[in-house]
Amino acid sequence: MSNRHLTKIPHHVAIIMDGNGRWARGQSLSRLEGHKKGSEVAREIVTAASRIGVEYLTLYAFSSENWRRDPHEVSGLMALLQHYLETEAEELHKEGVRLKVIGERSLLPNTILNLVEHVEELTKRNKTLTLQMAISYGSRAEILHATQEIAKKTRDHRLDPEDITEKIFNEHLYTAGIPDPDLLIRTSGEQRISNYLLWQVAYTELVFVDKFWPEFTPEDFMEALLTYQNRERRFGTAA
Ligand code: FPP
Repeated sequence: MSNRHLTKIPHHVAIIMDGNGRWARGQSLSRLEGHKKGSEVAREIVTAASRIGVEYLTLYAFSSENWRRDPHEVSGLMALLQHYLETEAEELHKEGVRLKVIGERSLLPNTILNLVEHVEELTKRNKTLTLQMAISYGSRAEILHATQEIAKKTRDHRLDPEDITEKIFNEHLYTAGIPDPDLLIRTSGEQRISNYLLWQVAYTELVFVDKFWPEFTPEDFMEALLTYQNRERRFGTAA
């Protein structure tokens, strides 16, 4: 790569942290051990992103579809999320991280929901990095939810159908107030969006990394940012 210096930092990076299970199998470890290592990597990437000056980082920690996994894996992932929130809240707060959870909250166990609300409240004024954790998140469900909210407003004559703009739609998504991702990274070699931020990634640059998430390092993160900066973004305009 010609330019090794980061001159164009994306405001918002979204990540699909894929490959914990395959990595674990390769190491003769359990899937949960793969997720545990994955959560440690996630923690390192949060710090790397904030040091680099990325303002928003969105991590796909648990999808709507993940509820259908083996109950042992689901409860293990929930325990891991709980542990992460309990042990990292203070440190994230000190680093100036604002935590925000996007997803279907009503499906979360009460302990996790209470913790999430506590950490969101604790960190809500922080400015260094906004960390959006997608938990029990599915993009189609998010879009349907926004549509229902808008439909209710038009039914109640609080909103004219003609006034439904992209801006209004954005304001009804879980990600309201957060700019669209500039860069989406997916690890593990899979090249899919998997029901992640479908509305928001309309003009996002996609970078697929051929490593499992537990192997992903801050250097790989930097490499993805360099790839991003060497891409030309035109937002549908002519070359
Ligand atoms: C995909 O790997 C990853 C997940 C379903 C969950 C991601 C969760 C973590 C990284 C840990 C929790 C995160 C935090 C921040 C506490 P996979 O299980 O689909 O892997 P596979 O495709 O190889 O089976």
